[in-house]
Amino acid sequence: MSAKKLKFNSKTIHGGQQPDKAYGSVMPPIYQTSTYAQSTPGEHQGYAYSRSANPTRTALENSLASIENGNYGLAFASGIAAIDAVIKLLCPGDEVVSTNDLYGGSYRLFKQIFEKFGIKFHFVGMHNAAKIEDCINEKTKLIWVETPTNPMMNLIDIKAVAQLTKKHKLLLAVDNTFATPYLQTPLDLGADIVMHSATKYLGGHSDVVVGALVVKDKDLADKLYFIQNASGAVCGPMDSFLVLRGIKTLHVRMQRHCENGKAIAEYLANNPKIEKVYWPGFEDHPNHEVAKSQMTDFGGMISFVPKGSSYEDAIKIVEKLQVFTLAESLGGVESLAGHPASMTHASIPKEEREKSGVVDALIRLSVGIEDVRDLIADLEQAIE
Ligand SMILES: Cc1ncc(COP(=O)(O)O)c(C=O)c1O
Repeated sequence: MSAKKLKFNSKTIHGGQQPDKAYGSVMPPIYQTSTYAQSTPGEHQGYAYSRSANPTRTALENSLASIENGNYGLAFASGIAAIDAVIKLLCPGDEVVSTNDLYGGSYRLFKQIFEKFGIKFHFVGMHNAAKIEDCINEKTKLIWVETPTNPMMNLIDIKAVAQLTKKHKLLLAVDNTFATPYLQTPLDLGADIVMHSATKYLGGHSDVVVGALVVKDKDLADKLYFIQNASGAVCGPMDSFLVLRGIKTLHVRMQRHCENGKAIAEYLANNPKIEKVYWPGFEDHPNHEVAKSQMTDFGGMISFVPKGSSYEDAIKIVEKLQVFTLAESLGGVESLAGHPASMTHASIPKEEREKSGVVDALIRLSVGIEDVRDLIADLEQAIE
């Protein structure tokens, strides 16, 4: 059966994969090589130099394209390197409209690297498509969407934004790191580019830093492949192998992340010591209907604010956690807790941060796939 027709849970395992041509190895070998023998100048077996292409990376790129329902996948040295490649499609004077509540490192890349080169970024709350349209002018080239957002768990209606980008002939890029293609496939909703920090759920084991892009359109893919090779932020063969291996169990892990996430979100919501819980699965979440329409479940990312808590109190809670590890990152099998104001979002000025709800007392959880009773007991002792 053509891999395109397979259901998602089969695509994660077989999508874009073939036994290796040399010995039929079922997993692609880790082609730990920088270069490839040529019989005469320019005559080789499809690979000349590993910045341009490497067979293990190709296997990962094919898998990425398959699980995101795209035609072309590109793997990078990190999620940020993947975003960097997208912005390099633009020229000085071009403008971008971006989600205002987004990963701090993406914000830093936009503001502190690309603004210097004359690209202008507008940051807006995107729950209302009309607000986005207000920022669009003849210089706008790209809309950058992160949904669910990190860490406020806001949802952006990808289909509604895609209508806008089609109308104004703009590119729409969606950071799908939090949802993964298990929960949502932005290309099917009208996006042009899907981006991932594959460091997170795709890799799934907190052992690798990798980024990814997936597109449907050949011209766009060619431009991005050119940037990937010309700028050179590619991921190595070992890292490609690890992410490919991670993707094979993505659906089983995500199923458990979602189950555990739901149990923890409900536990926190019913805890009188908790002021506010941000999780799109709650019926009273302002974007719950959007979540239901574009996602198949609600994921394992949750943010919360303890009652009356200050910066210091939030720090005390994260320090007391024992099963949850206090660490940057998310999406691994192990549960992690983070304090966005001092960790992932420290590069966003306090005033900007607080406008989108990232207050000093906010704690973010990446709920792993451990026994959920241990996770709840851990939160219980830390929150007291
Ligand atoms: C939503 C999101 N996008 C992008 C990135 C950047 O990815 P990387 O750390 O792999 O460069 C992260 C990292 O935390 C993220 O959470």
